[in-house]
Amino acid sequence: MKTESVAQSGPFGGRKQSLIEDARKERSSGSLSPSGGACGENLGVEAKDDRVILNVVFALSNENNSGFFKTGKIFETFEAKLLHIESRPARKVKNSTLVDLEFFMKCEVHSSDLDVFINSLKRVADDIRTFPDEKVPWFPRKIKELDRCNLLITKFDPNVDQEHPGFSDPEYRKRRAFLSELAFSYKQGDPLPTVEYTTEEVSTWREVYRTLRSIYPSMACRQFLDALQQLERECGYGEDRIPQLREVSAFLKEKTGFQLRPAVGLLSARDFLASLAFRVFQCTQYIRHASTPMHSPEPDCCHELLGHVPMLADKEFAEFSQEIGLASLGASDEDIEKLSTLYWFTLEFGLCKQNGALKAYGAGLLSSYGELVYALSNEPECRPFEPEETSVQPYQDQTYQPVYFVSESFEDAKVKMRKFSAKINRPFSVRYDPFTCSVEVLDQPEKIQNTLSQMKEDLRVLHTAMEKLA
Ligand SMILES: [Fe+2]
Repeated sequence: MKTESVAQSGPFGGRKQSLIEDARKERSSGSLSPSGGACGENLGVEAKDDRVILNVVFALSNENNSGFFKTGKIFETFEAKLLHIESRPARKVKNSTLVDLEFFMKCEVHSSDLDVFINSLKRVADDIRTFPDEKVPWFPRKIKELDRCNLLITKFDPNVDQEHPGFSDPEYRKRRAFLSELAFSYKQGDPLPTVEYTTEEVSTWREVYRTLRSIYPSMACRQFLDALQQLERECGYGEDRIPQLREVSAFLKEKTGFQLRPAVGLLSARDFLASLAFRVFQCTQYIRHASTPMHSPEPDCCHELLGHVPMLADKEFAEFSQEIGLASLGASDEDIEKLSTLYWFTLEFGLCKQNGALKAYGAGLLSSYGELVYALSNEPECRPFEPEETSVQPYQDQTYQPVYFVSESFEDAKVKMRKFSAKINRPFSVRYDPFTCSVEVLDQPEKIQNTLSQMKEDLRVLHTAMEKLA
């Protein structure tokens, strides 16, 4: 709110000292903020040495542009470093006076001057609002930027984890180093590397494939079985060879638009989930150690190709997977933890109901004989998939899960996931543009308008199609 003294004053220059003095007096009398506290409290400012970053929005009358110039003088007086400025037509009429423009300014000021600075602005401007400086973590906006999403978690790596079956096998570690290099040097858009698997590696694959394949018909969901049969017919799936990522990726691309990219190992949740937003699945190419064909402490090609790939060929499941990925972009660490927990209890260990029976769709189950049988026995606790509850459920990465979550259908899971995503605390929404393989950040009215225009075009096509059918 403006004060009388400034509103009736002459040119700002002569008021420099008294303006600050006035504000300081008001601060000492405790009358500066409605709550009686200091203005700097709860303003969402970010401390940076002895300076703070402040986001402020205010409205100015267009009367001789005087308010604008006075504002500039305040910045000069307080040596406030202007970092960003925007303006737009004001939406309010104040005291029957047309307020012409609203300004957003991001600036850096001395923390000791913060209260006085804000109150000085209040003398020349209306509707002053301050809000937090949103710290949005970096996220890829173009598919090419997935080259930066390769933060590796080495917890279960054979070079680090002494419990890893390959830890004491130099030949296995050498092989892993070779395959890691293939994944490290891969860039988005490159042809996927082809691996000449050894006889021993194919033998390990054979044992895994044969064992799991025998229980799939009674335990895997319908979508998984349909896709697996197609992969066997069209993509060389079978006991005698390990499918190549290149042909599997082409298969998925045709089915749902998903594609694979080689991964060195277990990635950070943020990087892995970000890839899903682009319908890219980061996929390991190495295989578990031959001494433990039915167990791997980390994801390997058996887990990816048998557990994940068939499900990614299903349209609704692909949409659900991408939904989690899109929700993760720019999310806080706390929300990433919730989303990765949701990922864990769905894409990895999810169950669904089909024809009144429980079936598995999670890759962690479909690539583990022991846990698949356990999950579908009467032993474990099963609860309905409810993102709010599921996202905070403690999970287990060393043994079987304490609880499994059951989805009614992937469509139902997707709708619930969308509702959950809408509550994620970030100052924008995102939308995937399949034409440019990029993520559009909807943070301005014009972008939303453009998206609406595109949707109108799509609706027009549908309308025409319906008319032709009629
Ligand atoms: Fe997985």
